[in-house]
Amino acid sequence: MAEIKCIGILTSGGDAPGMNAAIRAVTRSAIFNGFSVKGIMRGYKGLVFNEIVDFRSQSVSNIIQQGGTILKTARCKEFSTPEGRKAAYENMCAAGIDALVVIGGDGSLTGAGIFAREYNIPIVGLPGTIDNDLGGTDATIGFDTALNTIMDAVDKLRDTASSHERLFFVEVMGHTAGYLALNSAIATGSEAAIIPEMNTEVDQLAALISTGFRKSKNSAIVIVAENPATGGATGLAERVKKEFPEYDARVTILGHIQRGGSPTAIDRILASRMGHAAIEALMEGQRNVMIGVENGKTVYVPFSKAIKHDKGIDRDKANLVKILSI
Ligand code: F6P
Repeated sequence: MAEIKCIGILTSGGDAPGMNAAIRAVTRSAIFNGFSVKGIMRGYKGLVFNEIVDFRSQSVSNIIQQGGTILKTARCKEFSTPEGRKAAYENMCAAGIDALVVIGGDGSLTGAGIFAREYNIPIVGLPGTIDNDLGGTDATIGFDTALNTIMDAVDKLRDTASSHERLFFVEVMGHTAGYLALNSAIATGSEAAIIPEMNTEVDQLAALISTGFRKSKNSAIVIVAENPATGGATGLAERVKKEFPEYDARVTILGHIQRGGSPTAIDRILASRMGHAAIEALMEGQRNVMIGVENGKTVYVPFSKAIKHDKGIDRDKANLVKILSI
């Protein structure tokens, strides 16, 4: 295996709070261990179009508390073509980069896996996405902060829902996964969570509204995971309004606000641990693995497992929403 002297870092796909903490940890751990570091701007775009900058320890000063990513991020169509990846490889070699740390979600890690195999490059991934939809890790970087942002917003909605005796459908992100919806429903004491993994919940929601709403409660909050197949919160609210025109229903779509903000302590610590672990992994000769944390322990997860999205939804948590909202 060729010796690694210089490590390139990039952030790709949707940004997530804690990405900067991860960039900082990768950079400083690399420098501590004698590597040089290059920052690659705008995800894979920076490799394809040669936007690569030298990183020193000071390049990552004062960023641990910042949301977003100082490296910027993008979804890069060119990198999905063999020509784009060839240009990326040539630019990477010209910049003297021997290994990559890629911080992003399933699309970014899928791209990393293809690139690593095609050009035999050591690549280590970090799970950076608010969606928490990667296998082999209990949490992804950004998930906890997004959850707290949702909680804060829903607490505010609860005030107005209760004052006006309204039914609120609150749409949260999650790509095709329901982790943000289910966990935020528990944290906010919401009446129900509608998630793509459990389609049948819609019927149960109708039951909740028809039997319980006016009897025991004067307002209700239903968290709905975004889902283009069903129209998300808007689609659901329309169906419910048709069946129950007597309810004063409203829809709130939280949108990209969920991706912003200063990372929580949990995300800063997770990102710092994972960033450091990425450099250790490269020093141990690991490649094509994502760093995960399971039951408190750092683990190496092959890209193929990380992107599979087979972590499953915790049925006990879904039950908990029901039990605690009677
Ligand atoms: O993967 C993160 C995420 O925020 C998803 O939850 C959401 O579906 C998607 O990105 C939105 O992407 P964009 O910023 O391109 O609209």
